Amino acid sequence: MPTPLMSQPAEGTAIRPTCETNPAILAVRIGPLEISPPLFQAPMAGYSNYAFRQLLRRLGGVGLLCTEMVSARGFLELDRRYGKLPERLWGVREEPRPVAVQIWDNDPDKLAQVAERLVEDFHVSALDINFGCPAEQITKGVACGAYLLKDPELVGKIVSRVVRTVSPVPVTAKMRLGYTDHQLTACEVARVVEQAGGSAVFVHGRTAQQKYRGTANWERIAEVKAAVQRIPVIGNGDIRSAVDAVNNLQRYRLDGVMIGRAALSRPWIFREASALLAGKTPPPEPTPEEQFDLIREQYEVLIGQFGIPKATILMKQFLCRFIAFRPGSKHLRVNILHLSEPHEILEAVRRFLLATKSPINVSHSFASTRPD
Ligand SMILES: Cc1cc2nc3c(=O)[nH]c(=O)nc-3n(C[C@H](O)[C@H](O)[C@H](O)COP(=O)(O)O)c2cc1C
Repeated sequence: MPTPLMSQPAEGTAIRPTCETNPAILAVRIGPLEISPPLFQAPMAGYSNYAFRQLLRRLGGVGLLCTEMVSARGFLELDRRYGKLPERLWGVREEPRPVAVQIWDNDPDKLAQVAERLVEDFHVSALDINFGCPAEQITKGVACGAYLLKDPELVGKIVSRVVRTVSPVPVTAKMRLGYTDHQLTACEVARVVEQAGGSAVFVHGRTAQQKYRGTANWERIAEVKAAVQRIPVIGNGDIRSAVDAVNNLQRYRLDGVMIGRAALSRPWIFREASALLAGKTPPPEPTPEEQFDLIREQYEVLIGQFGIPKATILMKQFLCRFIAFRPGSKHLRVNILHLSEPHEILEAVRRFLLATKSPINVSHSFASTRPD
């Protein structure tokens, strides 16, 4: 049995039980929040919507969930012109805590204004600022996302402005290793985030130039951990299984692990990793029937939010990821492409799941799925 958690660890201190045979980390402190287990759902535009977050909550094992990236400028414009809120914030007010919202821009004042609204009106648990998006319309197009890794000073201004506005709500930064291989600024940026009052950094072990090519470099993520003094560093990139998550957490002596794409094909990866961290045997994979129920419920929630046409587009996108590493998935992908009625799509998925009883292959490489 792991040793119980200490009562009041200092901010950023990973809470490690003293048991020698299980040197796992059970929780991490991010500002005033204790995140347990230290397993984080990666923000994913087009996927980490309310329905997906609730699917993960039902399965369990996630310490902190996060929305898709929300444009600060878009938020302010939508509010000013139409008195509306971004679709990506749907469900945030009501859903259980903790929940983080990720925002992006390069203007400290706009980010602070939106952060203030999110804290006052939505009571979010944490605010994450995007310094990692590699998409060219965000980087070269509007000098945001990972483009900001070229300018640590501006990152510092952004973080300190937002922290001053929303304190004590924790502000975190999600980043990559740098903009290019020749500009590996993650260590410097992480130190700046710490000095500016940020509460944690999430580091995806690739550069923006790499996009999703190659493999995530966890040695470099560990260098970021060594570069900061107080705040936790959470590693991210290419985790495919619960064993990967726990191994990387321990091997690189990080404070937490963030999982993205693997959670789209195996959303129960968090409960498996959480069990391993606690020194327990992971629960079995949900049965095909249980998996079908999860999909059906998720589709229903999506329809409730978006209506059938848009929910169906999102569901098809999700299903392609969900089935990606299973035998026969290509056939189902082609098959559902032509379907538009929820009951037809669900029936095709039900038949597919019940026919494929073998566990999902977790030794895949993400390179075999279409890049985003
Ligand atoms: C479809 C997709 C959408 C993404 N959207 C976001 C986003 O909105 N904000 C963000 O910080 N990162 C985003 N990411 C990056 C992920 O959060 C994560 O850093 C990356 O996928 C690496 O982790 P993984 O190998 O576990 O998937 C996205 C990734 C994918 C695949």
